[in-house]
Amino acid sequence: MAERPYIVGNWKMNGTRAMLSEARAIDRAAQRYMKVEVALAPPFTLLHAVHREAEQIGVGAQDCHAEPDGAHTGDVSATMVADSGAKFVVLGHSERRGDHGESDALIASKVSAALEAGLRIILCCGESEATRDAGKAEDFVLDQLRAGLPKLEDASERITVAYEPIWAIGTGRTAEAADIAAMHHAIHGLLVETYGEEQAAGVRILYGGSVKPDNAREILSLSHVGGALVGGASLSAESFLGIVVAAS
Ligand code: G3H
Repeated sequence: MAERPYIVGNWKMNGTRAMLSEARAIDRAAQRYMKVEVALAPPFTLLHAVHREAEQIGVGAQDCHAEPDGAHTGDVSATMVADSGAKFVVLGHSERRGDHGESDALIASKVSAALEAGLRIILCCGESEATRDAGKAEDFVLDQLRAGLPKLEDASERITVAYEPIWAIGTGRTAEAADIAAMHHAIHGLLVETYGEEQAAGVRILYGGSVKPDNAREILSLSHVGGALVGGASLSAESFLGIVVAAS
């Protein structure tokens, strides 16, 4: 188990103001588990409201635009995210890559914009089932990260990586423990190459993909797994807190 596991709930395109009671319940309960860092990434429409509820948990966005402002109808900049009270942004999620055709280059620009705006980032990576079956998962994931990781010397303090095999997202299937461990080991190796041993030790690598209260403990006990990025199970305080308890 990581020294201070990081458990992040990604609400994706779910949640109206009725969900604020779940955020409040998560926040109040998280105060009993100070050894776990707990955060939520609600949709843009709830960012400020969740931030106002949060006494203990971190709050972040699920995306931001690469430009600081301008004529980009419907988009939200990193500066706006920071202004809402949010402290981090999830970037490069496979649903953004898939639904919106986000390229590695675009994601790298968003990473720069987010860091420039003073945000922390959770940079996502993960292979499709076809890529895994072809034996190319590790090369694919490391290439995604080589393109997205910022090279700034002090950046590692504000980076978290999330490994999410696409075929495990929202499917109820989790990757084999040995495969998760092997991928996290490879990602840690890349972080050491990029930032050096000492800085890399501070970058947590989350696993995401059908994490639930009943499988969280095993996943979180794997070497180099520093926490979890949780989708479906973060939508109710009860199941999300079950994962926080497993991490504590
Ligand atoms: O961002 C979260 C991940 O995509 C995992 O989603 O827990 O519903 O599989 P899931």
